[in-house]
Amino acid sequence: MKITVSAPSGLEGVVKRELYKLTGSDSQAVNGRISLDGDIKTVATLNLNMRTASRVYITVGSFKAVTFDQLFDEISKLSFEDYIDKSSKITVYADIFESKLNSIQAVSSVCKKAICKRLENAYKTKLNETGFNHKIEISIRRDFVTVNINTSGEPLHKRGYRTSVGDAPIKENVASCLLDLSIWNKSKVLVDPFCGSGTILIEAGMIIKNIPSGLNRDFDFLHFEKFDTTFYEEMLKTARDNIVEPSGVTLYGYDIEDSQIKLARAHAKKAGVADIIQFECKDMREFSSNKPYGVIVTNPPYGERISDRNQIVKLYKDFGFVYKKLENWSVFAITPVSDFERLFGKKADKKRKIYNGKLECTYYSILGAKPPKKF
Ligand SMILES: C[S@@+](CC[C@H](N)C(=O)[O-])C[C@H]1O[C@@H](n2cnc3c(N)ncnc32)[C@H](O)[C@@H]1O
Repeated sequence: MKITVSAPSGLEGVVKRELYKLTGSDSQAVNGRISLDGDIKTVATLNLNMRTASRVYITVGSFKAVTFDQLFDEISKLSFEDYIDKSSKITVYADIFESKLNSIQAVSSVCKKAICKRLENAYKTKLNETGFNHKIEISIRRDFVTVNINTSGEPLHKRGYRTSVGDAPIKENVASCLLDLSIWNKSKVLVDPFCGSGTILIEAGMIIKNIPSGLNRDFDFLHFEKFDTTFYEEMLKTARDNIVEPSGVTLYGYDIEDSQIKLARAHAKKAGVADIIQFECKDMREFSSNKPYGVIVTNPPYGERISDRNQIVKLYKDFGFVYKKLENWSVFAITPVSDFERLFGKKADKKRKIYNGKLECTYYSILGAKPPKKF
């Protein structure tokens, strides 16, 4: 069957790379989505392991439609009975971009009618909708319709370790993408001097320990009546057996707010990585290190109110001063503040546009010198 993985905006390349590592599939990203062939075990593998993706879908079909009659007829041709049982409940969500069919409500209603009719004809019975609620997403982009069944349920960034968050938290899958786009790897020291609720470091901790991102959560596909998912217990057991317990701390998080540090510690404990992250309530201005090489990946405060601007100017300048004393370190910072480089006092080696939620940000990469080969 056709499986589709959705990616956070601007991060399709990172998701594509992770998908390739997990499955060997190398297909192109189209409109923030990447498709591959697979079976229910592929669906399980992707949901359990993908750190960077947003959701995993089964794609039932795609076609062009400019009238409601066409939409109804084309939907009726798709074999929903291959994926949805006669007792299943169905909820349809529509998402429309620059198309002749432009009413979300009308599109959802027509699609639901067509899907139910198809299933009633296939099963030769009325649907009682007492079973699991299948969420079907109809996406129409420039009159091209794609029909997907959501196999993840809640988006994949919801790993289950974050209970509450502070200001402008970064989504867990976006934090994983930031790590992937940095030069950090398991053997390097990583610091987040504005760690807030700890997301970036916790994601790094899960990578170090080889803890799958979805180990402690439920997924919709596990409730699909049409599929035998008894293999999943074994998949989970293997994943748990593959967790490693490294000795020593290489991850450090600081925040000026004690409440944030308490939250970060609680999240790290829930994620199973508290023993490899050191969190401390500290002003970034007090940070220094005698380690010659290290990596900072961070999501500093933005100053959303105009009155905050002076504080942000001072904070970013001070961040630049702190960095000057860190010989050979590299900094990766995501912020919507457009004059970050000027304030920080260093030109970025690379800049890329990334969204933090709906906020357009830039991810600045500032590279330090490379360690000698034998370091
Ligand atoms: C955008 S938030 C980081 C959110 C974090 N990435 C998360 O996922 O929760 C910025 C954080 O910087 C902290 N902060 C502000 N000024 C600071 C300073 N001078 N030193 C250290 N932390 C500071 C704030 O308390 C806030 O938690």
